[in-house]
Amino acid sequence: MVDVHIREVGPRDGLQAEEPVAVADRVALIDGLVGAGVGNIEAVSFVSPKAVPAMAGAADVMSAIGRVPGVTYTALVPNEKGAELALAAGVDALSVTVSASPAYNEKNVRMTVDESVDMTGRICALAGERVPVDAVVSCAFGSPYEGDLDPEDVHHLGRRLYDEGATSLTYADTTGMATPRRVDDLLDCTGPDVGLHLHETRGTALVNAYAALERGVRRFDTSVGGLGGSPFAAGAAGNLATEDLVHLLDDLGLTTGIDLERLLAVSAQVAAMVGHAVPSRVAAAGPRSRLSTSA
Ligand code: COA
Ligand code: ZN
Repeated sequence: MVDVHIREVGPRDGLQAEEPVAVADRVALIDGLVGAGVGNIEAVSFVSPKAVPAMAGAADVMSAIGRVPGVTYTALVPNEKGAELALAAGVDALSVTVSASPAYNEKNVRMTVDESVDMTGRICALAGERVPVDAVVSCAFGSPYEGDLDPEDVHHLGRRLYDEGATSLTYADTTGMATPRRVDDLLDCTGPDVGLHLHETRGTALVNAYAALERGVRRFDTSVGGLGGSPFAAGAAGNLATEDLVHLLDDLGLTTGIDLERLLAVSAQVAAMVGHAVPSRVAAAGPRSRLSTSA
């Protein structure tokens, strides 16, 4: 058992924001992350390849990875077609995103929020008893289109998704509008049994995670290197970096099952894979335990 559950989303949220990389590289990334101790990984999304070219070939990725027993391989799906393909590919869990922002939802999946809630119900019916479905409420801390959203309304959307059959909920700060105060406000409504998916757009991801930890939240989505972003929201920057959160949690004495040094080796491979430095601070500076070798 670990103290804090990390769902690594780099192979999906991270790579969807990059130029497409080869299936073999995506497979190596997933296997490398699992080798570093990641226990839950959003490996792929089964979405329209026209909408997100970088996620094409999801079934090929799923069939080529080395499945490690005990590890949960998750796929994000936007509709029943995606859910059917994901189940056929043998995923262990599904995630489905519905936005608290009507405008963002329309851009992301070309559906109204009500249509997406109905779609979530149909996806949950397909998943049935076979796999759990995590419903991700995006733009949960504010929307670049509608501005601040009432936390009660965001919570109400989450409740509707539970009613449709979701087995867990994650609240996502898709465009980095959360602050510790707003994390508090939402958790006042939802309680701590939620996942958080935080983005680093305005440099607040790690303080938001810390605020949530203090409130008892124990599930986080993070992305190796801090890669990430949404092709459907201008200016959305990377996710909270897995290595930055693991580095903090290690020092707090909270276990994740992830080996920081091995994770940093994967992070270096990711930078080579995408062809640019990754935004993670710990990737750049090294962990605080690494002593300087310069005179
Ligand atoms: N997997 C693969 N292909 C899919 C698909 C899926 N889950 N769902 C639809 N498609 C294909 C259709 O077969 C169709 O292909 P064709 O043009 O060759 O016939 C094409 O995509 C368009 O399908 P349609 O049902 O008309 O969808 P749309 O154009 O209204 O787009 C979505 C709706 C949801 C499919 C699309 O917006 C999408 O995939 N969004 C995902 C966005 C995302 O991943 N965001 C980041 C994570 S939150
Ligand atoms: Zn994200």
